[in-house]
Amino acid sequence: MLYIGVDLGTSAVKLLLMEGNGTIKKIVSREYPIYFPHPGWSEQNPEDWFNQTMDGLKELLADCDRSQVAGISFGGQMHGLVILDKDDKVIRPALLWNDGRTYEECDYLNNVIGKDKLSEYTANISFTGFTAPKILWVKNKEPENFARIEKIMLPKDYIAYRLSGVHCTDVSDASGMLIFDVKNRRWSKEMLEICGIREEQLAKVYESYEAVGNVLPEIAAELDIPQTVKVVAGAGDNAAAAVGTGTVGDGMCNISLGTSGTIFISSEKFGVDKNNALHAFAHADGHYHLMGCMLSAASCNKWWMDEIIGTADYAGEQAKITRLGENHVYFLPYLMGERSPHNNPNARGTFIGMTMDTSRADMTQAVLEGVAFALRDSFEVAKSLGIHIERTKICGGGAKSPLWKKIIANVMNIKVDVIESEEGPALGGAMLAAVACGEYATVEEAAAKLVKVIDTVDPDPELAAKYEERYQQFKEIYPACKPLFEIIK
Ligand code: XUL
Repeated sequence: MLYIGVDLGTSAVKLLLMEGNGTIKKIVSREYPIYFPHPGWSEQNPEDWFNQTMDGLKELLADCDRSQVAGISFGGQMHGLVILDKDDKVIRPALLWNDGRTYEECDYLNNVIGKDKLSEYTANISFTGFTAPKILWVKNKEPENFARIEKIMLPKDYIAYRLSGVHCTDVSDASGMLIFDVKNRRWSKEMLEICGIREEQLAKVYESYEAVGNVLPEIAAELDIPQTVKVVAGAGDNAAAAVGTGTVGDGMCNISLGTSGTIFISSEKFGVDKNNALHAFAHADGHYHLMGCMLSAASCNKWWMDEIIGTADYAGEQAKITRLGENHVYFLPYLMGERSPHNNPNARGTFIGMTMDTSRADMTQAVLEGVAFALRDSFEVAKSLGIHIERTKICGGGAKSPLWKKIIANVMNIKVDVIESEEGPALGGAMLAAVACGEYATVEEAAAKLVKVIDTVDPDPELAAKYEERYQQFKEIYPACKPLFEIIK
């Protein structure tokens, strides 16, 4: 049988077709615009997601035996707020995961409701990108839109809704809304009240590997696939990527270098970081995970290459980097503010340490290293909780760079396992569909059978020691700049 994984990303939707034995038959992608209507705002049009997904699906399925398609599932950009009216029309563009406009609402949630209460109700505190402060923002700033809300959903759930007609979500994505009781895997009554919404406006919650229904007859006809094709709940993109990299069960780690950068640690037991610097979310394998999320990771490199030095030759630029561990330039990668661990929408990208002999290669290197150092900040929080990580998987666009993988391995001083396919969320989505269709009994079984490590990047003790020293310096820069970020905002 055939399974489709849809990775509804920030810059594009990626679609992957997988055979039951894990063979990837085809991958296609379709881009869509992102709008920044004000500094710190970030929006997309859900119609664009759906149209591009349908267009991509047609190409994906063009030359296969469509009668064999059995299931479709998702990994989706998390936290985005999609609101529909009584006629199922999208009320306003979606506010995305990296949107920083909700600082007043966050302040209210964290300081008036209080972090302790939030953590008790949801296992998390408020970050500007989370969904609850967005709901409050619409309530406060666009009351006429708020009054029209009939359905509240997350980005990938809008696609599932259009394909199946079922208003659904899954436990991993629901976890990032701050209205979900993560420990008990159900909506939090207290948070519904705080946000002024009713449970009927929210989706039915499924485990990620559960089918929510079948494709609607008109979708089956348009794509020329059987009406029996199952639509499967899927997961937030990080949990889906974790499935796609075999980061399931207990104590496994995955790093994703996409638009955002995440460090994801799977856990069989529910646990909360007492300072809530790491998110405590439900996992797509039926268990839990901790995650640190930085808002700009591979996007820093893209910004530096595309916008600043103006080149498409990423590998060529990286080939000029020869002095790892010896760079005197540092880069704070906070181009969209920062989530983990600083929780500061006013933080900004910063270069420091240049001299007259600083080269273009040094600056490029500083960007790659700055992302690795900032990921280490979250890694340090995990270590402070007694979590011991010796190795990690890696996925996302940035993982295609051998140099970046080497920098990560040495900055973190852990082994980086490279897997056969870096298609984290799309592959994870297809695997969840395969589990829901009975091809595998559990997500863990699917991961054990389908995910193959093909190489390992080992840290080099000498280089890791150099990076240890550099990291100790990097750590000092954000606290020193923090007061300035409050002034220059
Ligand atoms: C995770 C997060 C990002 C988005 C990116 O908390 O906000 O990783 O999911 O798509």
